[in-house]
Amino acid sequence: MTTPTEHDAGRADNPGPGPRPHPRPLLNRRLAEFGTTIFAEMSALAQKTGAINLGQGFPDTDGPEEVREAAVRALRDGRGNQYPPGPGVPELRTAVADHQLGRYGLSFDPDTEVLVTAGATEAIAASLLALVEPGDEVVALEPYYDSYAACIALAGGTRVPVTLRPHEGRYVLDLDELRAAVTPRTRLILLNSPHNPTGTVLSRAELAAVAALAVERDLLVVTDEVYEHLVFDGEHVPLASFPGMRERTVTISSAGKTFSFTGWKVGWITASPALVAAVRGAKQFLTYVSAGPFQYAVAEALRLPAAYFTALRDDLRAKRDLLSAGLADAGFEVYRPAGTYFVTTDIRPLGESDGFAFCRALPERCGVVAVPNAVFYDHREQGAPFVRFAFCKRTEVIQDATARLKTLAGGA
Ligand SMILES: Cc1ncc(COP(=O)(O)O)c(C=O)c1O
Repeated sequence: MTTPTEHDAGRADNPGPGPRPHPRPLLNRRLAEFGTTIFAEMSALAQKTGAINLGQGFPDTDGPEEVREAAVRALRDGRGNQYPPGPGVPELRTAVADHQLGRYGLSFDPDTEVLVTAGATEAIAASLLALVEPGDEVVALEPYYDSYAACIALAGGTRVPVTLRPHEGRYVLDLDELRAAVTPRTRLILLNSPHNPTGTVLSRAELAAVAALAVERDLLVVTDEVYEHLVFDGEHVPLASFPGMRERTVTISSAGKTFSFTGWKVGWITASPALVAAVRGAKQFLTYVSAGPFQYAVAEALRLPAAYFTALRDDLRAKRDLLSAGLADAGFEVYRPAGTYFVTTDIRPLGESDGFAFCRALPERCGVVAVPNAVFYDHREQGAPFVRFAFCKRTEVIQDATARLKTLAGGA
């Protein structure tokens, strides 16, 4: 068979120039279902309308001055301006290991058990690409952070959502449902606590049950703990600290949330040498390395005194309370988050039921942007009436937003 040429145009078996009946889509079919993230759409809407953007989770003030200065120093001193080592600069790996030991009593070898990544986002992608084979099932808590579904798909895995459901003011994990979701094809559980978007912090008992299940069924667990320092009620307990979990857990964290430098994209994993080696196997072909000078700055940030972490948490707790009260005042049902910097609300008391339509109209109605939680669900109907607001913003911005939202009360 010869390759058709333009001379073939017009023949009965050649449609000729113009659109083909079934052109092959440009986007890889594994990604076809995902489209553009809602954050891009909502942030564009915020810009167009001048609305206050409580959609995307980024702080509107930078992190500590001394950390910024540390990055400037590293740049000026020529530290990290050329490719840093693949696993991350030793200073940061050591600082991560010291943090895990000092805060949680978990001991990791900085040389073999810590891997620096381009934000938690790359850590998630590399972990899933490394550990999941086509056909493997990945059990994940739904609603989930949007990159989880895409990365499971890129790895050729099948996601098996276990839905967190509102119960007495908090989203809870049904442990029986989690147990039932595990099959012989399950490769790993993808956990996230403190949980975005619901703000749930899994309790010690819940985590112990997840750990026991993972051990019983011999599963790996990838646990996204990027909000580890943003816990307002209760405590953050790393999953890796439970019996039998140290060797089967990949723990992910990031400087973005803890130090309010989301643009630097410095993240890391801690895990056993075998798991780190596997994840590095994928990571080396994604970015190889990133953020050289920022790695040195984050190493210094992790050594900030305890007072920094307490002040960050207390500041965000006050903002949580301010926004939660404002949203309740405006007529939303509020799920007060125990952690993260997001509040999930139910819009049904406002006479609404479609979070998408509500969020698309909100900037025009009252000059505020939020995101519909449905985007975080496979079972979209489960998330339909829920909407997420971020409170990692200046107090006056939250006050302004709540004043605007108040005009919604009573259907105004
Ligand atoms: C649960 C969760 N994981 C990971 C990330 C991404 O972290 P990074 O900016 O470090 O890539 C986010 C950011 O919003 C998040 O909410």
